[in-house]
Amino acid sequence: MNPSSHLILGISGASGARLGLRALSLFAGSPDVHCLHLVVSPRALLVAKTEIDAGISSAPALVDAAGLDPATRAKLALYPESAVDAPISSGSFRTRGMAVLPCSAGSLAAIAHGTSRGLLQRAADVCLKERRRLVLGLRETPLSLVHAENIALVTRAGAIVAPPVPAFYAARTAEQMLDAYLLRVADLLDIRVDTDDFRWKGGA
Ligand SMILES: Cc1cc2nc3c(=O)[nH]c(=O)nc-3n(C[C@H](O)[C@H](O)[C@H](O)COP(=O)(O)O)c2cc1C
Repeated sequence: MNPSSHLILGISGASGARLGLRALSLFAGSPDVHCLHLVVSPRALLVAKTEIDAGISSAPALVDAAGLDPATRAKLALYPESAVDAPISSGSFRTRGMAVLPCSAGSLAAIAHGTSRGLLQRAADVCLKERRRLVLGLRETPLSLVHAENIALVTRAGAIVAPPVPAFYAARTAEQMLDAYLLRVADLLDIRVDTDDFRWKGGA
């Protein structure tokens, strides 16, 4: 399989479980992605219980909530956060890169400092060391100096911090705003996604 057809998605415990689910669905459905490697932090499940459904108690249950068709579901490789022996834990396993959506301030800090506690952080660390694309959808507001310095650190290391800031000019509903944002992330990952075209085409 072409290494560039492997993509990693991390879902961390920031607010925005629906963002992670929609990313899962759009990215796994991309014709440019043949395998989407998915890591869900245990804190992300806590958030999903609050924001989506109290019955979501495991990563497979979260994936079920995405309602993927069987062909798209077959493109997923789901790992527990503890699986630091997974292929994506090694730089020798070639991937297109990784997105963390949403990315908590805690995961940002861990990635900025290379602590690699758990598979999500390790896979991100691998992307940095291999100079692969790493997009962090940091969801926190307001930002402290600690956050700002961690943003600077990961940016200098090659990551792109892309907070899920709504494109108010491009979309009206919350769902459209998620898709408009994810289209921009997909562009950063250089993958095509099946969503409405929220690109700016000029005024009037
Ligand atoms: C409902 C809920 C919403 C949260 N929202 C955020 C958030 O928007 N941003 C953030 O940085 N942390 C948020 N947190 C706190 C993180 O979950 C917490 O810092 C956790 O340790 C992050 O772990 P992880 O990055 O390994 O998933 C939230 C927690 C809960 C329970």
